[in-house]
Amino acid sequence: MSVVREWGENAGRDDVVVLDGFHALKHALRFGAEVVAVVAEEPEGVRALAAELAPDVEEAVVRLVRRGELKGLLPRVHPTGVAALAVRPDRDAGRAALARTPRPAPVVLLDNPRNLGNVGAVVRLAAGFGATGVVTRGDLDPWHPNVVRAGAGLHYATTVDRLELDELPPGPVYALDPEGEDIRGLVLPDDALLAFGSERHGISPELRARADHLVSLPMRPQVSSYNLATSVAMTLFHWGGPAAQ
Ligand SMILES: C[S@@+](CC[C@H](N)C(=O)[O-])C[C@H]1O[C@@H](n2cnc3c(N)ncnc32)[C@H](O)[C@@H]1O
Repeated sequence: MSVVREWGENAGRDDVVVLDGFHALKHALRFGAEVVAVVAEEPEGVRALAAELAPDVEEAVVRLVRRGELKGLLPRVHPTGVAALAVRPDRDAGRAALARTPRPAPVVLLDNPRNLGNVGAVVRLAAGFGATGVVTRGDLDPWHPNVVRAGAGLHYATTVDRLELDELPPGPVYALDPEGEDIRGLVLPDDALLAFGSERHGISPELRARADHLVSLPMRPQVSSYNLATSVAMTLFHWGGPAAQ
């Protein structure tokens, strides 16, 4: 089958996402994604990148990559000249991972986020800190192509799902809000749900009602708030992150 036809057939599947660029492909392979197609303008260049930057996945890249015209397959071509298709992880397994107790690391909860780039940046943070997952509430799809692009392939390194309020994983809810108690006096437990409000309206009334703690990040008077992803970064850093290697 031709590369273009194979790409088209896989890209049409509901359970497949596009990985845009070499780093997204590298991360997805490292964290166990089922990669079903890799197309590059110059396969040799991608193999050289793998050898230089990711020898741990070089063999897989060399095996998968095929020459193809990306311009015809994608709206825009990544500077690394490579794109891939990967199968979304099983949703039931992800939900089971979110619900499992005792939980070794918090779940990040985004309450009706609006900005796709912010959500991707949060997935990247959650992956880096080893958080159990990122859960969103509301109409934004955390697997939207632009979120996956901003997440740099790290949707495969943590659990990412959209849930209703009555489906949230167990654990105490720490809602981040400038009116809350100063985070510097608190220890955030591993089983916490760390909740962040929307860029427009902050924490919703229903989540505020559900919160066990309201927590604030230090901020000078007259500054009204931080960016959503920045707030997640500071909070995960305060929680502690992965053990030192
Ligand atoms: C851009 S802010 C929301 C601003 C919104 N206009 C509001 O009224 O809250 C997005 C989210 O980041 C978190 N956040 C931002 N600054 C914070 C701070 N100083 N303390 C605690 N959380 C903060 C909150 O969860 C907030 O809902």
